[in-house]
Amino acid sequence: MRVAVLYGGTSAEREVSLKSGRAVIAALESVSIDVFGIDIDTKSNWLQQLQTASFDIAFLALHGRGGEDGTIQGLLDCLNIPYTGSGVLGSALAMDKLKTKQIWQTLGLPTPAYRVVESCTDLAEVWETLSGPLMVKPVHEGSSIGMSKVERFDHFKDAVNKAAALDSSVFVEQWVTGKEYTVAILDGQALPVIGLETNHQFYDYEAKYLVNDTRYLLPCGLESAQEQALQALSLSAFEALSCQDWGRVDLMVDQNGQPQLLEVNTLPGMTDHSLVPMAANAAGYSFAEFIVAVINAAQK
Ligand code: DAL
Ligand code: MG
Repeated sequence: MRVAVLYGGTSAEREVSLKSGRAVIAALESVSIDVFGIDIDTKSNWLQQLQTASFDIAFLALHGRGGEDGTIQGLLDCLNIPYTGSGVLGSALAMDKLKTKQIWQTLGLPTPAYRVVESCTDLAEVWETLSGPLMVKPVHEGSSIGMSKVERFDHFKDAVNKAAALDSSVFVEQWVTGKEYTVAILDGQALPVIGLETNHQFYDYEAKYLVNDTRYLLPCGLESAQEQALQALSLSAFEALSCQDWGRVDLMVDQNGQPQLLEVNTLPGMTDHSLVPMAANAAGYSFAEFIVAVINAAQK
C-alpha cells in the first residue's frame, strides 16, 4: 500500500497541520508503509501531484478551512481518489459550528445556548439574554483561534471584532461552568474519554499546543456509567452530522452533571500535544496502529 499524506494547507491552523502531517508520515514509515507527503499550500504544484502520483489512499492531516471543511474532500471525490475520514457533507457541517448546533438542537442533543452576532446585533441585548460570561467564536475556525471568553460587557465588542477579523460569521455561546471533556471516535466506537484542565481561562491555543501545564485526565475521573453516557452522546453527535471513520467530539459537563456538546473535529490534531493519540493509546493502539486503523476504516 502507498499512502499520500495531505497536510499543511492555508488555514490559520497550518502550523498545527504541518506537525500532524509530519507525525503521521513518521508513524507510517515506522511500520514500513510506503508514504509521502503533499503540502496543500499556495506555491507547490500539489494538484498536479495529486493527479499524477501513484498511491492507494490519501490520509488527510489538514485542519481548518480548505482541508477539513469538505472542499478537499469534494476535489478528491471528483478525482476518484480514496481518502480517510469524513466526506463532503460531514466535513462541511462539522466545520460550521452554527449548523452543527442547529442539527443537534433539532435532534434534542444538548448544546449551550447561543446567538449569531452580526454588525447590526444589539450586543447589550445579547449579553442580557444569555447572561454573561460568554464565549465568542468564529463559526468556521479551529484550535480555539479567534475565540475569547468575555467576562465583562465592556470587553464584548473587542472579542467580536477579534473573531470577525478571521471569519465572516461570528456567534456567542453561553459560558458553561463545569468540566471539559473530549471523546475520540474510531470506526463507530468511542475511545476512552479525556478530561481537560487548564490554568488558562479556557482550553485555548496556548493551552492546546504551547504550554506544558495543561492536565489531561485519562482515565477521565467520571464514574464508568457517566463515561459511557458521554461516549454514547458523542457517537450520536458525530453521526448526526454524517461524520465518518474517525474524529473527536468536544463537550462540557455543567455543574448539574448535564453534558453540553461544543463541536466535532473531523480531522483532529495528531501532534505530540494532541488528544486523539492519547485516547488511542489508552485504548491499546500505538500511534502507528491508530493511523493504520483509520486507513482500514476508510477502506471498508
Ligand atoms: N482543530 C484541531 C487541530 C483539533 O481539533 O485537534
Ligand atoms: Mg475544533
